[in-house]
Amino acid sequence: MSLLQAATAVRKNAHAPYSRFKVGAAVRSASGQVYAGCNVENVSYPEGICAETAAIAAMVAAGETEIAEVLVIAESPDPVPPCGGCRQRIAEFAGQDVVVTLCTTDGGSRSMTVRELLPGLFTAAHMDRA
Ligand code: THU
Repeated sequence: MSLLQAATAVRKNAHAPYSRFKVGAAVRSASGQVYAGCNVENVSYPEGICAETAAIAAMVAAGETEIAEVLVIAESPDPVPPCGGCRQRIAEFAGQDVVVTLCTTDGGSRSMTVRELLPGLFTAAHMDRA
């Protein structure tokens, strides 16, 4: 299954009664397997999770820790970029050259690398003197 198919399908299951903004995400791991996730909101708003976070959690739960490709889709005028927290979560498992494709449900898309999405990212090396 393609990342676009997986993210489009899982987006339909998004639980977004508060924002009404449904998001689907899919990651391809190093093994080639596709993992999908949708946003899951909560009445206690900060407890909601993003689609990217859900997809990454599914990958890790399956025993994989290396992201080869990411795709996110939402119904928005412009391709929606991942939030700051999700950029850091993607960078935890993806190399700087990994491509993240941002899509709209009407066919728009934009591709960026992890490097472009999160310049100056925090890494384990920053804790070397701790
Ligand atoms: N959201 C995502 O799931 N991924 C993004 O890349 C942007 C935002 C969700 C979080 C929340 O459920 C809704 O979209 C509105 O912010």
